[in-house]
Amino acid sequence: MTMGSESSPFPPGFSISTPRLQITPFDPANQTHCAFLVKVWNTDDFISSCGHTSVDTPEKAASFIQGRILSDYARYRHGIFLVSLRDGKPIGTVSLMKGTPPDPYYSAPDVGYAILPEESGKGYATEAAKGMLEYARKDLGIEGAFGFCAAEDMRSRRVLEKVGLEFRGIGDLIVFGEKRSAVYALPSMEDLTAYNLTEKLEL
Ligand SMILES: CC(C)(COP(=O)(O)OP(=O)(O)OC[C@H]1O[C@@H](n2cnc3c(N)ncnc32)[C@H](O)[C@@H]1OP(=O)(O)O)[C@@H](O)C(=O)NCCC(=O)NCCS
Repeated sequence: MTMGSESSPFPPGFSISTPRLQITPFDPANQTHCAFLVKVWNTDDFISSCGHTSVDTPEKAASFIQGRILSDYARYRHGIFLVSLRDGKPIGTVSLMKGTPPDPYYSAPDVGYAILPEESGKGYATEAAKGMLEYARKDLGIEGAFGFCAAEDMRSRRVLEKVGLEFRGIGDLIVFGEKRSAVYALPSMEDLTAYNLTEKLEL
């Protein structure tokens, strides 16, 4: 490894399987992973929904995987993963993320996703997010999870609903610099303040 000191805590060949997909850890030394991360996070569709990230060259992708993604794996055993079809073709990313102090953070992670435009509309984001939450529950004992997206992003909101999260309201979330966001949570999460989400939500 040339950048940072984190290494992956997952055994070789680790994969979360769903009926049509494989969800696998990113590897900064894998050129295909780095090139794909640049591709999927720089489509017009992604940029119009999520904005620009710092990941716009394979070198920056390697650095981001080595720095941010591997530290999340080491700290939480979850983070941002690669989504591929069963034949190995990469089609997107799925994530379960939690902030870390001193930044503001909630005590339950939130699920996110990005699928290439040509593979959208086939239920893959929903399937990947369900697989991620199932892994978190069964293997990591994580019972709470949020879903956040821009309030007007009806497509992402539909995915969160199909994954089984409940709409709890719209609020200016501190973790996103007070950006107005739709808040979804697993039905078992009755009181969101117990997860450190104390912002006022409007229905
Ligand atoms: C959002 C995104 C992940 C969806 O991926 P996907 O694989 O197409 O999602 P799915 O097929 O599982 O589900 C999409 C659902 O949204 C619905 N949908 C699509 N456009 C919609 C709209 N404008 N309004 C409401 N629902 C919409 C689809 O009909 C489908 O629901 P259905 O199965 O009930 O018909 C993908 O388009 C993407 O990566 N976009 C860019 C990045 C992004 O927005 N990420 C999320 C940021 S929080």
